[in-house]
Amino acid sequence: MIIAPSILSADFAHLAGEIASVEKGGADLLHLDIMDGHFVPNITIGPPVVASIRKITKLPLDAHLMVEEPAKFVDDLARAGVTWISVHAEADVHLNRTIQYIRDHGVRAGVAINPATPISVLEEVMADVDYILVMSVNPGFGGQQFIPSTLQKIRKLRDWISSNNCRARIEVDGGVDIGNLQEVLGAGANMIVVGSAIFSSKTSPAEAVREMKEIANRWMGRLDRA
Ligand code: DX5
Ligand code: ZN
Repeated sequence: MIIAPSILSADFAHLAGEIASVEKGGADLLHLDIMDGHFVPNITIGPPVVASIRKITKLPLDAHLMVEEPAKFVDDLARAGVTWISVHAEADVHLNRTIQYIRDHGVRAGVAINPATPISVLEEVMADVDYILVMSVNPGFGGQQFIPSTLQKIRKLRDWISSNNCRARIEVDGGVDIGNLQEVLGAGANMIVVGSAIFSSKTSPAEAVREMKEIANRWMGRLDRA
């Protein structure tokens, strides 16, 4: 079970400290939201910042590309040291090629889908991806409300993956917090992105991650006993 803090809600002026805090709390992966101001109405960070982040943490890096023509960024991000890259199905008309291209770089490849995009768009690529990112908010900003119908979508995807013997993980991104984490896990997700609930937590980012890992570990324990 992977808990992946999204630094989108971190204090960018104190990024090293924020990242050290989630690392201390037991985070498994660092989720990096790359936005271009075209595919989504916001701009964030690009490869140079990712390369700097690579130097200050041992955590694996997961780049979520909310950009048009995402394949253009794969070389630079791979060189910057990311080990997971997801691209949006809605942003790429050559998904098969891009997935292959990412994997050729020795990077895990994922496909992300927006809340309004059905899982059927994944049918022809499902066997080739390492993960599927189900957006549970409309991409672009942290701190939004989890869209409840996502749970049904995750369940459907979990059934689909199981019955087709796929190895893809299900990553869920947007509006996840202590209150709904168990439900999201119960629906079948096994890679959870959390932004504001970690970096704007009342305690500390480290404590928030610890609490979420505990919920996830308890959930895994229940699965083991079942
Ligand atoms: C939204 C981003 C998310 C975001 C999640 O477009 O993809 O990764 O940081 O933030 P929260 O957990 O606050 O919804
Ligand atoms: Zn994201």
